[in-house]
Amino acid sequence: MRIPDEKVQEVRDAASIVDVVSQTVSLKQRGKAYTGLCPFHQEKTPSFTVDPVRGFYHCFGCGAGGDVFSFIMKMEKIGFPEAVKALAERVGIKLPTYENDDARNQEIELLYKANQLAAEFFSACLWKTAEGKSAQQYIIKRGFQSRTLETFQIGYSPNQWDGFIKRAEQANIKPDVLSRAGLIVPRKDGKGHYDRFRGRLMFPILNVSGRIVGFGGRVLVAADGSPKYINTSETPVYRKSHILYGLFQSKTGIRRENRVLLVEGYTDMMRFFQCGFENVVASSGTALTEGQAKLISQHTQQVVLVFDGDSAGLRAALRGIDVVLAAGLHVEIAALPKGMDPDAFLFKYGPEEMRKCLANTFSFVDFQLKQIRERSGLVNPKTKAEAARSLINTASKIRDPIEKQITIKDIAEKLDINEAILMHELKQTPGSESGTLSPTPRKASGRREKAEMGLIAFLLLGGDAWSELIFRTLEPEFFTGSYTRILFEQSHADFSRGLMPNANHLMDRFRDNPQMTAFIGQILSDEVVQNTELSQFGLDCVLRIIEEKYQEKIDAIQKRLKIEQSKGDDRAKHDWINTKKVLENLKVEVILAWKKNVEI
Ligand code: CTP
Ligand code: MN
Repeated sequence: MRIPDEKVQEVRDAASIVDVVSQTVSLKQRGKAYTGLCPFHQEKTPSFTVDPVRGFYHCFGCGAGGDVFSFIMKMEKIGFPEAVKALAERVGIKLPTYENDDARNQEIELLYKANQLAAEFFSACLWKTAEGKSAQQYIIKRGFQSRTLETFQIGYSPNQWDGFIKRAEQANIKPDVLSRAGLIVPRKDGKGHYDRFRGRLMFPILNVSGRIVGFGGRVLVAADGSPKYINTSETPVYRKSHILYGLFQSKTGIRRENRVLLVEGYTDMMRFFQCGFENVVASSGTALTEGQAKLISQHTQQVVLVFDGDSAGLRAALRGIDVVLAAGLHVEIAALPKGMDPDAFLFKYGPEEMRKCLANTFSFVDFQLKQIRERSGLVNPKTKAEAARSLINTASKIRDPIEKQITIKDIAEKLDINEAILMHELKQTPGSESGTLSPTPRKASGRREKAEMGLIAFLLLGGDAWSELIFRTLEPEFFTGSYTRILFEQSHADFSRGLMPNANHLMDRFRDNPQMTAFIGQILSDEVVQNTELSQFGLDCVLRIIEEKYQEKIDAIQKRLKIEQSKGDDRAKHDWINTKKVLENLKVEVILAWKKNVEI
């Protein structure tokens, strides 16, 4: 039985990590932290620290780290639920047993009921109120037919602070239930709640059995400072990493076709469905998770990724490939023209063109080779070796040994490299046996990486007031560390759903990746982070990351500069001046916005 998140949190809050660790390690207080000899490796001088306030431990010697649960898991060599149970017992918290499973089921029924009521309310607002007219016009203008809108139960949330609260009141559903369902949000002053969704086009999110578990809400008119989509927060019925938008409507189609088209957005999914492709699901904008891949594997083994041809779409596709392969599924990629998501493509060119596109999908090997050719070419031994490594890295995720072998052969032929050498490389690839996605964290080497780690720490340690500014300013591609980038993306995704970046939350999300939990612990234990004034530290990190990114661009232009100037071409020079200007302006802008925040 799954232990409810609230209970896990309760246990975490009640336990003292210092007490727990002290049972095996003799700790001494040093400043705010405690130190001792690391229990996970042999050492003579203490490099193991525990942060009692934030509840993390970290060893500077061997890199082990995490929260109180990961400490117990590692020490006792047990799993997460067992660790929670053991600790709950110590601190005297009763975990739900089978007797009160009933209570949990009741709670879940309540959450379904709240979501169902919300969907009916939003639908009525769309079709039966004056305010809903503009939303109707918007969605009809985009070419969605009423049958599609019905199938997906599209609605509209009125632009009021308590429209839904009032409706729920009449239906006798209490605010705390609505709040636990993620439909309303408690006011900061603790007095009452307000509607989470206001003035938005509403996309109900269904679980695989067709029950409504949450919503995505889209703005009708783009407005500054308000995200394009707001989504229900994570709830006991809406576990985001285990839900795929459209799976309920598509599951028969997926089985019939024995393949699934995987897209990013709600509208992409709906458009495909309307155009007669009834085997589509959407990952809803986040990187595909293991849980979602497993969900797919219950219906088919064939996945086609259909992503926007722009850089964000390609990135998402590349990451999706690894996850799909690691789940033991077969993957192909349909590449759409740049700047066109499936919705736009279908709207413009129609289903026939899409069918052609889907008949000409790429294997991941061909897809990655195409990317590499377009980016840098396969001109010299160095780029070729890099290409081989990157392909082998992906191939290492394939579960079926025969399929893996065939793929390696394919890579060898296409790159004209001896197969045996590639096989050797494959054996060197970490995690190739287990088939799971687990990049290894590196020790922070350069200033750039330190700044990236610092920024994540800043976000997690209470940079809340700056989160919006940071997510507006920085992009995932500004990050060079694989771990820092993943953490940045995850925090950003959480933030767009109304969750502030939070270390416990991240730890729980990456619970099955001990290297990642250790990495989070490491970031938070950094001495500089611990001892500097937080807001100045955060600003320094942001500026450093921006500078490093722009320096990359400037370096690239400088390379062009020499060649072009010899031909009397001034374009590189202009680019160079412009890029420097953009960088300076951006820095000033960030500094001003940052300081403004401090004053407030
Ligand atoms: N998304 C989100 N929060 C955001 C932006 C996007 O949750 N602030 C998710 C949504 O699930 C969205 C998906 O990411 O459907 C893809 O985003 P995007 O391509 O920007 O939107 P579209 O789905 O294409 O929506 P539209 O066509 O209406 O612009
Ligand atoms: Mn779109």
